[in-house]
Amino acid sequence: MDEHLISTINKLQDALAPLGGGSQSPIDLPQITVVGSQSSGKSSVLENIVGRDFLPRGTGIVTRRPLVLQLINRRGKKAAGSAASAGAKGAAGSDSVSSTADQLLDLDMGDKKDATAAQKDHKEGSPGQQEDNAEEWGEFLHLPGKKFFNFDEIRQEIVRETDKVTGANSGISPVPINLRIYSPHVLTLTLVDLPGLTKVPVGDQPQDIEKQIKDMLLKYISKPNAIILSVNAANTDLANSDGLKLAREVDPEGTRTIGVLTKVDLMDQGTDVIDILAGRVIPLRYGYIPVINRGQKDIEKKKTIRSALQDEKEFFESHSSYSSKAQYCGTPYLAKKLNSILLHHIRQTLPDIKAKIEATLKKYQQELMNLGPETMDSASSVVLSMITDFANEYNGILDGEAKEISS
Ligand code: GDP
Ligand code: NA
Ligand code: MG
Repeated sequence: MDEHLISTINKLQDALAPLGGGSQSPIDLPQITVVGSQSSGKSSVLENIVGRDFLPRGTGIVTRRPLVLQLINRRGKKAAGSAASAGAKGAAGSDSVSSTADQLLDLDMGDKKDATAAQKDHKEGSPGQQEDNAEEWGEFLHLPGKKFFNFDEIRQEIVRETDKVTGANSGISPVPINLRIYSPHVLTLTLVDLPGLTKVPVGDQPQDIEKQIKDMLLKYISKPNAIILSVNAANTDLANSDGLKLAREVDPEGTRTIGVLTKVDLMDQGTDVIDILAGRVIPLRYGYIPVINRGQKDIEKKKTIRSALQDEKEFFESHSSYSSKAQYCGTPYLAKKLNSILLHHIRQTLPDIKAKIEATLKKYQQELMNLGPETMDSASSVVLSMITDFANEYNGILDGEAKEISS
């Protein structure tokens, strides 16, 4: 039921994309938006959650269009030959998703003794993170039906698609790129990566780049259904965090903002983030989670994400400040918490979303009627029928939810 809920939201997001998608979407769907200063570690956090290297990285402003990233958990297939049929099934959106967050967490940390055969296959079969793997793939909304099994190619496609819209200079665009990643090793989540906050224009960027980025971020995070993932480097002053300042502009009570503290490994000896975790600095209802990503040297040495996650776990477990709360630290805990926050949020907003879907449906039906019968084969009628399908499916879920609650 839970996973079904998120997967329906994902399908709605795709169906609504032709109507403007992203920040212009007529229906405000719950999703997790990532904000923070440039180089605070946003891309690193996202890659660690996915468990694969696939995001363009480098110094300067690399993320120049919003990336709507839908992670879809699907079970690994034991038989190698079933990859193609599993792929077709996943693409149709009818994946059977039943892994629990706990399973995934244990899998990520490699310490589960009774892992399923499929999970074991994966561990033994792919010691490196970057080899092609038929059980994990990406699909872009702008390239329907094309499966990317090679994550380097995903990165190249993001770069190509960014340049196509913004030009090869350092310009930005609010038009999102939609990417789905199917994998048995992710939690079902929708994340939006946004350009980092910056003050100084580089290259031939416009003088008002700071304002342009701020406006784009605000468009995404000001929606009441946006959960704000505020990424801050632990070795910088939280009180000066531009990302957190922006988050507080739209969410002053901190009721839909969750803090991530990166670069905990780079803090001065004898200092820690305990005061922040305890809510004594800038309290957030969902709190803060400290993480450690790969540093620039790690990336140059091609350190795998798997080994980075292992090191992260050991760091928190052996550090005198964190060892007693190590279970609330690190990337796997962050992924689990994000998944449960998203579900909670979707449940709370279901009735409102349903009402908006019905209103949108009426509006488009009316527009089509006004256009006359000759337009009924047009693209908009296709969109209309998609929305109708999803509205029906949504009602089914609402009914199921109601039964669950009343039983
Ligand atoms: P973004 O601009 O916010 O997307 O930041 P990136 O994820 O690209 O990270 C910027 C730089 O900081 C990269 O060189 C990363 O390797 C490094 N970095 C990110 N997180 C950490 C961390 O937790 N520890 C260390 N040592 N370096 C990090
Ligand atoms: Na960067
Ligand atoms: Mg980035």
